[in-house]
Amino acid sequence: MPLRTRLTERLGIEHPIISAPMGFLAGGTLAAAVSRAGGLGLIGGGYGDGEWLEREFSAAGNERVGCGFITWSLAKTPELLDKVLARSPAALMLSFGSPAPFVAAIKQAGVLLICQAQSMAHAKEAVEVGADVVVAQGGEAGGHSGTRSTITLVPEVADFLAQAAPETLLVAAGGIADGRGLAAALMLGADGVLIGSRLVASSEAKTPKGFQPAIMAADGDSTIKTTVIDIVRNYDWPGEFNIRALKNHFVSAWHGHESSLREAPTHAVEKERYLSAFNSGDAENAGVIVGEAAGLIREVWSAERILEGMVAQAEGLLRSGAQHVRPRAT
Ligand SMILES: Cc1cc2nc3c(=O)[nH]c(=O)nc-3n(C[C@H](O)[C@H](O)[C@H](O)COP(=O)(O)O)c2cc1C
Repeated sequence: MPLRTRLTERLGIEHPIISAPMGFLAGGTLAAAVSRAGGLGLIGGGYGDGEWLEREFSAAGNERVGCGFITWSLAKTPELLDKVLARSPAALMLSFGSPAPFVAAIKQAGVLLICQAQSMAHAKEAVEVGADVVVAQGGEAGGHSGTRSTITLVPEVADFLAQAAPETLLVAAGGIADGRGLAAALMLGADGVLIGSRLVASSEAKTPKGFQPAIMAADGDSTIKTTVIDIVRNYDWPGEFNIRALKNHFVSAWHGHESSLREAPTHAVEKERYLSAFNSGDAENAGVIVGEAAGLIREVWSAERILEGMVAQAEGLLRSGAQHVRPRAT
């Protein structure tokens, strides 16, 4: 029997799983595969590249997919929002920055608004602007995040929504990579989950070759939150967020030496080296962006197998959970 939640009902999907709009890695092929498998797939609009987005929406074909943007970056290229809304996405997700300037256009287009929140303050802002879905993201996550943990942020946001906006759905993100995480998220009060890291190790992601074997070999201790990957790429991220990635050669060499990395001519040299390492899939000299869930990933699977496996395991756990409840002695 499938898992039924308010998320599956409201979105008309089979499984309560949304794929993260991972910049560069979550293209149309991955998003479509996730939707085809019964979840909701999101294309990673990332820092905003109009031609890339057009290509990836075409790659998704007729599959019902959504898209996500890094909000502070979208503010620099706001015209991309109209381009994406013209594609009638199934949902538009905004993360990292105030969603307020973009809400009117999204609502006017009748598109589901998902806001990713890293703190209670972000969750409150999401409700104020009228988000349909709030994603509570813990710092275990791959990619950028704040300082809160999934296990405390999700139930705190659940309590807040129950009181302030009972119709708003809650999705948990950060460290969820199997059925245990999915079952736990539902128990914490979420209506579903959003997963990124597990799908970096899927056959449909645009993950550079070399990165997936490095993730298979890593455990959950092998990641670190750092700013050096943004410094080298010249991304001016707000200070409340930093990125979680593998502690590889590049990160170990520069973490703690951020001012030296910023200096000319070092920066220009390192940037060129970094981009060429990324393009050639060199997992030691580019940013391998993945969360603590790296320690739970042992094989590259198709998105379909990942979703089916998560749901089957969660169902089994939720059914057998009652074994822990003993009748009280009278
Ligand atoms: C490789 C990678 C890239 C990401 N890029 C983005 C992004 O561009 N925009 C965004 O909103 N979130 C991004 N995220 C974060 C996800 O939205 C999500 O919060 C996270 O993947 C959930 O935690 P998990 O990685 O443990 O599943 C990224 C995550 C990963 C792993």
